[in-house]
Amino acid sequence: MSWWRDAVIYQVYPRSFKDSNADGVGDLRGIESGLDHICELGADALWMSPIYPSPLADFGYDVADYEDVDPAYGTLEDFDRLLARAHSRGLRVLMDLVPCHTSIQHPWFTEHPDFYIWADGQGDRPPNNWVATFGGPAWTRDERTGRWYLHSFYPEQPDLDWRNPAVVAAMQGVLRFWLDRGVDGFRIDALDRLVKDADLRDDPPASAPFVLPLHEEHARLEHLYSTNSPDIQEAIAALREAAGDALLVGEVYLGAAGVAPYLQHLDVAFAFELFHSPWEPARLREAIAACASLEATDGGPGSAWVLSNHDFPRLPDRFGPENVRAAAVLMLTLPGPCFVYQGDEIGQRNGPESPNSHDRAGRDPYRHPLQWEPEPLRAGFTTGEPWLAPVDAESRSVAAQRTDPGSVMSLYRDLIALRPHLGGGLEMVDADAGIVAFARAEHLVVVNPTTRPRPLPPGAGEPVLESEPGVVSDGWLAGHSGTVLART
Ligand code: GLC
Repeated sequence: MSWWRDAVIYQVYPRSFKDSNADGVGDLRGIESGLDHICELGADALWMSPIYPSPLADFGYDVADYEDVDPAYGTLEDFDRLLARAHSRGLRVLMDLVPCHTSIQHPWFTEHPDFYIWADGQGDRPPNNWVATFGGPAWTRDERTGRWYLHSFYPEQPDLDWRNPAVVAAMQGVLRFWLDRGVDGFRIDALDRLVKDADLRDDPPASAPFVLPLHEEHARLEHLYSTNSPDIQEAIAALREAAGDALLVGEVYLGAAGVAPYLQHLDVAFAFELFHSPWEPARLREAIAACASLEATDGGPGSAWVLSNHDFPRLPDRFGPENVRAAAVLMLTLPGPCFVYQGDEIGQRNGPESPNSHDRAGRDPYRHPLQWEPEPLRAGFTTGEPWLAPVDAESRSVAAQRTDPGSVMSLYRDLIALRPHLGGGLEMVDADAGIVAFARAEHLVVVNPTTRPRPLPPGAGEPVLESEPGVVSDGWLAGHSGTVLART
């Protein structure tokens, strides 16, 4: 069985994990010093959001050199050391591969303009009606040539032309570069954007809301031609060819049905339909069933479960702080790899939107530093001025939760320890309408997302784990809670 089959993969956001040199920005040596915490949780691997040199228009997702480390994070030697230390503790390491676009400051943009997607405008107007992810036209005019280049995200992120074999070969080289250094896999960024319509046809107006949240302006169109081209398979096959049997996790921003074809060459793809499900029993049940029906080519689960990342409001802010424990039970008992975003393990909340925000799309609040110590100004994250302030370190920190058996962190630890013993498969179980219940071999997982107690389904035996002591009582499960029970 592949190592990732039921793995827990911890997402490190490098700028905000741990700073080792007092410049207020996290770095690789900081990550190295935090490996104990990741191991203690019981995670099997870590994924680092991009650490490559970047002018930070999109905080690392605008890559200026795929084969180096940004000086703010350290050096390639620091990377090698981190990788060796992680491996010696049995932790695998995933890189973030950003194949859809580079930074406009990547030398390719001037040295190989043919690597990018260019078109003539319609007079003063862009070549077509495509809209960028965060709003505005997906095209920018190059003043020098008068032609327009495509950017699915910010204008500083020109899209690569995956129909050009030289681009494919260059990106395969990037995968090999990191695999040769010893990495264990890649999370592939914005994969559904990789290949677009060859004729650049206009997107039609949206006739129904998209299954996942979109920027308002972006949502007005149905992205029939600007994303998710059927020709994507060739591109993913090329990534697979370079990756060999390393883990490939796709960020495919589609509902479960749209994700299925991507699993021909990927190992797993993020289950965004569950990620974005409202915290309501019927919707959660539907989303779990849809995502759990995805199969990888080896017959294993095709969904990588994830409820939180650096792009969306934090768990307590989306599901309500009272549901953080139940959400942990829900996700960490599903079959297939699970991704935990740094800070979720202590119930970290959104930070304030600062007046001079760093991310133009307003995502700073989800990226505040991990709170290591109960110290309000620096939270043990740095000894300097943190690039974003801690949120509420006095009441929530790794140090305080580590030794508290009733903490969210202890619950994460217990759930992760229990995962390998749940048994295979997943079967949705008929239960009270207010309940989400599924069976894992000899166990029943029951989550109550509602406010009032609900009856446990038939077959519920003794609780093996409760989201808080006493939530199971006399055949009932308290509101906002979850449990794993023996199945009778
Ligand atoms: C992904 C990343 C996001 C980034 C975008 C463009 O969605 O998670 O942070 O802005 O791709 O690279």
